[in-house]
Amino acid sequence: MKQIIIAIDGYSSTGKSTLAKALAKLLSYKYIDTGAMYRVVTLYALRNGFVDKQEINKAGLVSSLGEIKIAFQINEQGKSEATLNGISVESEIRGMEVSSYVSKVSVIAEVRELLVAEQQEMGKSKGIVMDGRDIASVVFPAAELKLFMTASEAIRVQRRLDEMTYNGLDVTFEAVKENIAERDYIDTHRTIAPLIQTEDALVLDNSSLSREQQLEWVLEKVKALC
Ligand code: DC
Repeated sequence: MKQIIIAIDGYSSTGKSTLAKALAKLLSYKYIDTGAMYRVVTLYALRNGFVDKQEINKAGLVSSLGEIKIAFQINEQGKSEATLNGISVESEIRGMEVSSYVSKVSVIAEVRELLVAEQQEMGKSKGIVMDGRDIASVVFPAAELKLFMTASEAIRVQRRLDEMTYNGLDVTFEAVKENIAERDYIDTHRTIAPLIQTEDALVLDNSSLSREQQLEWVLEKVKALC
């Protein structure tokens, strides 16, 4: 079967990574969660004092980018975990603190340049499913299959809340709703690589679709291409 690049973009908590992971597993493709990469840089900024009075010390963070090594490893349960300089930071990057600063870190041009170059390298030999905000528009503009995912606000908030509660985090529906709205605003309004639906992307509104239905829908598109 021909190896292709599958680019998945969309708003926060639209189920991109759930679909991307399942798809990659079925096709025996690599899966890369680019949001996790921006989250790791944010965690590094928080841990190293580059966040002050809710603002990012851009110059400080940019001068330290060479110290950040991001990778993915498979844990004992077979799940992919993001690592920062060789140590798993999977649970820390999903918390509220990282979530509330990640969009601010994502607007920094130097951060994006570095991460986009790493992402393009990962997709060199194709056979990859990558999800994020600028995958179809910037990272892989020539991807064979581009999906733009969306879902109703209430469903997105509930999904993120369920995920956080499952991970032992104590958060309210309102706090998650506010964070998602703020991130969507910044992600779609930033000057560099804002989240957009490219003209050649297929829209998948999964508000009322099960995981299986979504997977079936995408697999049909993949089959038509390979
Ligand atoms: O997919 P996520 O919600 O974990 O992503 C976290 C943040 O990272 C998101 O609010 C914006 C940023 N991001 C980005 O700017 N570009 C990407 N390709 C992926 C994520």
